[in-house]
Amino acid sequence: MGVEYKAVQWNRQKRRYDLVLVGGVAAYLFIFGAVTEWFFPNVTEEIMLMRAFGTAAFLLLHVILCIGPLCRLNPKFLPLLYNRRHAGVTCFLLALIHSVLVIATYHAGGDTNPILSIFVSSPLTGSVAGVPFQPFGFFALVILFLLAATSHDFWLANLTAPVWKSLHLLVYVAYTLLVLHVTFGALQGETGVVYFGAMAAGLLTVIVLHRTAARRERRGDLELPGDSAGGFVEACAVADIPEHRARMVCLSGERVAIFKYDGKISAVSNVCQHQNGPLGEGKIVFGCITCPWHGYQYLPETGASPPPFVEQVPTFNVRVKNGRVWIDPKPNPPGTRAEPALITT
Ligand code: HEM
Ligand code: FES
Repeated sequence: MGVEYKAVQWNRQKRRYDLVLVGGVAAYLFIFGAVTEWFFPNVTEEIMLMRAFGTAAFLLLHVILCIGPLCRLNPKFLPLLYNRRHAGVTCFLLALIHSVLVIATYHAGGDTNPILSIFVSSPLTGSVAGVPFQPFGFFALVILFLLAATSHDFWLANLTAPVWKSLHLLVYVAYTLLVLHVTFGALQGETGVVYFGAMAAGLLTVIVLHRTAARRERRGDLELPGDSAGGFVEACAVADIPEHRARMVCLSGERVAIFKYDGKISAVSNVCQHQNGPLGEGKIVFGCITCPWHGYQYLPETGASPPPFVEQVPTFNVRVKNGRVWIDPKPNPPGTRAEPALITT
């Protein structure tokens, strides 16, 4: 949480996460090498290595993209999200090794500048199978570098959360470029069917998971009717909200999280200031709304992080009448105290 930028703090969870990540990548590279040697004994070591690192990076990117929707569908996946940025940096490093191996093998031997060679070595032929696929990989690598280089909380604090989040949505552009890279590359290689099939399965998984999570979220959005009493609209029954947790409602397209705790009701914007995590899926821990993604905390009455932290989310005025929660759709500025409504029986 941001008071000011602080150096990385390691903890046991981060170390375990990284150990599993590095162990998983090492196991993948080893198995890839063994399978290639068994089934394709004529493939040279350089080509085996560039394929191993390229596919490892692409596979890890699939995992990274699937973590978000998986967490929406089942909170058991939340531990994967906690250090997703470490997976992102690892993905870039694997892609970089793949690219360096490719450049050293195919582009460094001639008179042309090796980077320029990526763009001019395969001229357009007019056939789909001849589309130069390497420039797609190059631009994807540039984006992955940008994301890895700005992944630290230092950049999140300095660029501000909305700018950082928009920048990191470029991961979907990188993914699209890589789908093109692998598709057109596969059309030109002897193992094309295998790569194309695996990539199609991966793409389908990413799309289906994102669509399922979005549909589930839309279904959960209870868009409140416009009719109101004194500006307030009826949101839900007090009994619908589990203790120390929230019920999410949608007000003019904005998600609002209504929390029940210690005989009171408070409502805040659902969007965490860290990386837009869903506050309404978190719970109240030691009196603070705790984001389920990385644990940023906010006081339910004010929407402000407890001192010395400085994050603030908008609050909403609430009332409780006859066991029903009423809410003023107009948000208060972030960090503004909104008197909690007392639950009377
Ligand atoms: C400068 C950037 C890049 C260049 C020049 C490049 C070039 C190549 C080449 C020449 C191949 C075919 C290798 C062969 O089988 O002989 C290939 C395949 C592949 N690349 Fe890249 N690539 C780049 C970036 C990337 C990135 C960023 C990723 C993933 C994150 C990636 C993932 C793959 C995958 C999955 C394959 C298919 C497996 C294979 O045939 O090696 N590439 N790339
Ligand atoms: S999104 Fe990271 S703590 Fe909320």
